[in-house]
Amino acid sequence: MIIAQTVAEVRAQIRQWKKEGCSIGLVPTMGYLHEGHASLAKQSVISCDKTVASVFVNPIQFGPSEDLLSYPRDFQHDCALLEEIGVDLIFHPSPEEMYAPDFCTYVEMEHLTTQLCGKSRPGHFRGVCTVVSKLFHIIQPDKAFFGEKDAQQLAVIRRMVRDLSFDIEIVGCPIVREADGLAKSSRNTYLNAEERQAALILSQSILLGKKLVEQGERNGQALINALKAHIETEPLARVDYVDVVDGITMQPIEHLQGKILVAIAVFIGKTRLIDNFSVTLS
Ligand code: PAJ
Repeated sequence: MIIAQTVAEVRAQIRQWKKEGCSIGLVPTMGYLHEGHASLAKQSVISCDKTVASVFVNPIQFGPSEDLLSYPRDFQHDCALLEEIGVDLIFHPSPEEMYAPDFCTYVEMEHLTTQLCGKSRPGHFRGVCTVVSKLFHIIQPDKAFFGEKDAQQLAVIRRMVRDLSFDIEIVGCPIVREADGLAKSSRNTYLNAEERQAALILSQSILLGKKLVEQGERNGQALINALKAHIETEPLARVDYVDVVDGITMQPIEHLQGKILVAIAVFIGKTRLIDNFSVTLS
């Protein structure tokens, strides 16, 4: 497995692989990898000749009061995990390699980013779209793999690829959970024992939401109210948002119809966690 820290090294290797006729899969990550990330990498290794994983804590997608400095890192562990899966190259650039001191070109998306995490984290998707565009240009993958755990991010990337005519297939991968239901996340490491227990309120709310929709609930506000009320039964939890949006446009909907996304963001103590489910209704 090759570990490359510069754009030039990656480009040289990609050129070689393309000359050999290899298809290339990309798995963008911020490291501190868990089985959720691993599932994306495994999917890429199965369906592409060569797999590149990027490990880069992207400073421009963090807000000023967010956890950029404390974001967990363990590059040794990440390398071991990716090597075992059969990843061919890890791109692990420094912030300086990705952003020149006078960097001033960004990819900004309208509409899809006005709700959910886009609303709670101003500038977040500008940072995500910019770094993912750079990774797409550097690695030129045939396929790129993203988790449904970050459902808005997946929708945003799909739209960016369409709008900016990237010749890349975006593959969405299902949410990987802990045995007790909590969605795997690098940020779960921030939770103490009591908070870890309290964090189950997220996956329980997702199950409740699924059940209500299955039982016929079609009123967006009623669903939001039920989930909020459930989350508020947990004293350590504070709702950031509970939203029901169109699965493509990410805009709020009153009546549940077509592809919908039910997404929640909840603070457990100081840690902000997200979860969601999608469903297509006739
Ligand atoms: P990160 O949070 O490291 O996540 C990398 C990828 O792993 C994302 O596509 C995310 O949706 C997926 N993922 C995380 N937890 C998952 C889980 N429990 N099940 C399935 N997939 C999961 O998302 C980012 O990094 C960054 O925004 C990035 C796209 C790398 C741009 O900086």
